[in-house]
Amino acid sequence: MKILITGAAGFVGSYAVEAFAAKGYAVHAAILPQETLSPELLPLCTVHHFDLLDTASVSALLQQIQPDRILHLAAQSSVAAAWKQPQLTADLNIKGTVNLLEAARNLPALPRILLIGSAEEYGKLPSDAEGTQLVSESAPLHPVNIYAATKAAAEQLAGVYAAAYGLPVICVRAFNHFGPKQREIFVAADFCKQAAEIELGLREPVIRTGNLDARRDFTDVRDIVRAYVLLLESGRAGETYNVGSGKAIPISEMLDMILSCCRVPVRREIDPAKLRPAETAYLAAGTTKLQSDTGWRPEIPTGQTIADTLDFWRQKLKEQSEA
Ligand code: GDD
Repeated sequence: MKILITGAAGFVGSYAVEAFAAKGYAVHAAILPQETLSPELLPLCTVHHFDLLDTASVSALLQQIQPDRILHLAAQSSVAAAWKQPQLTADLNIKGTVNLLEAARNLPALPRILLIGSAEEYGKLPSDAEGTQLVSESAPLHPVNIYAATKAAAEQLAGVYAAAYGLPVICVRAFNHFGPKQREIFVAADFCKQAAEIELGLREPVIRTGNLDARRDFTDVRDIVRAYVLLLESGRAGETYNVGSGKAIPISEMLDMILSCCRVPVRREIDPAKLRPAETAYLAAGTTKLQSDTGWRPEIPTGQTIADTLDFWRQKLKEQSEA
């Protein structure tokens, strides 16, 4: 069974290459021309360079590989970055998805596709649901930021391709995930990196944060990728699935948990540059459909993911300072 993973050089992509290779798939990893795959992944896959925005390049790649499955991860995945690069975000997340869907529907045998969208597509929940309820896939979508709007558009496009061409697409709305190797543009990685820098004496003992009031549903990236494997195997084509833990915590609580693992005392300070023009207040995943179709449950406790992420940054910064 051949799987094409786009965005394989990214955070989730690197875990996905390992997970699908471990399941016996022939993994084809699509990455940008300027990217490299980390050395430990190279024996697990065949690497292809491609440009998601170049229609001909995407089509040639799919024709060459003729994959049975596609995991489409390549995207501009940061809500914060999308405010600063709206055009690039729209290009990658919408045009890039169309390039992929169009190339896929022209293959002789239609591949099963897992399209990774976002919990952010829900955006503003009805006020009675906010802060209390798990959001189910049937909830209306009210994106409140540019990233979320592009992900909602990509999902709508997938629905059109599925209905018009019979393309077997499964959509995911992924809730927040974190773990070792994530870039520090995301909140848990950012806090863990700052904490590790403080421990190593590389910065003053002050953690700079954005809005600590938003509530998010955090899952370990390894659990998330396990859900993606299960969905490609036994998810229903044409369906959309939430993937998350089902428990929302305030960002302030995530910070408390990280600081409780930090070996030195730390102060906190709001950095106005980290506040966003608009913010989704609350997101918690209702995962009844995912659980009944695949049996998936999150397994790795948040405390373990925090410990692993902190260790990753301690090690990385130590290596950098010794180099
Ligand atoms: N990045 C960051 N840095 N976020 C902070 C900080 C900070 O110092 N302080 C507070 N926050 C808040 C943000 O304002 C947001 O409410 C929350 O922490 C999470 O921010 P991010 O980790 O940047 O992720 P996100 O929620 O915007 O988006 C992530 O989750 C989506 C699913 O809900 C990404 O992984 C998306 O790709 C994903 O779709």
